[in-house]
Amino acid sequence: MSHILHLDSSPRGSRSTSRALTKEFVTSWLQRHPGDRVTYRDVGQYPVSPIDEAWIAASFSKSEDLAPNLIDALRISDELIDELWVADRYVFGVPMYNFSVPANFKAYIDQIVRVNRTFTQDWRGLVTNKKILIITTRGGSYSNDASSKQLDFQEPYLRTVFGFIGVTDITFIHAENLTMGDEARARSLTTAQTAIQSLTATW
Ligand SMILES: Cc1cc2nc3c(=O)[nH]c(=O)nc-3n(C[C@H](O)[C@H](O)[C@H](O)COP(=O)(O)O)c2cc1C
Repeated sequence: MSHILHLDSSPRGSRSTSRALTKEFVTSWLQRHPGDRVTYRDVGQYPVSPIDEAWIAASFSKSEDLAPNLIDALRISDELIDELWVADRYVFGVPMYNFSVPANFKAYIDQIVRVNRTFTQDWRGLVTNKKILIITTRGGSYSNDASSKQLDFQEPYLRTVFGFIGVTDITFIHAENLTMGDEARARSLTTAQTAIQSLTATW
């Protein structure tokens, strides 16, 4: 039995395509694996704070030396990291914003990439034996040729940062061309939905 961490990061609600696609994956997955557990986290509509001076001071201090205000500074980070530990599969929806990830998602990343919790001082990832599916949504397309690929700072960034904390089994499903007219959008959604259905059988 698996425990899935389902996370959305679009600031949009019912109009969000990434939310619709992660929901579609998790719903289909649960039909095939009815005993699996799901934890849900929404950093799009309920953003976590950016890290601040207290957070940085606390994360680089020994836990037994932490004053109460520094313990508080790490509270949400501890909660988010605990969610990563208890789950063994992650299903994340991440829109492309300005060729990379939305600020809300970057704030989440800054909270979970933490020395001695998710990586060691000599840069070894600690979050191992996990799988992540990242469903991205994009207005344009970045998979056609070398010049469009160069503009994609989202997939390489996500691969690097999750790899850094030890999550190296990464699958991407990109729903592209979502703002390139009804026909292109419909075609792309069908391709993404087909990939979602086939992955629920093989992941
Ligand atoms: C602030 C903002 C920035 C965006 N930047 C890009 C971009 O750099 N490249 C792109 O292809 N699409 C971009 N888009 C389009 C979104 O990726 C697209 O609308 C996607 O569907 C958003 O995900 P969501 O539907 O889950 O909210 C941007 C949209 C917004 C609102």
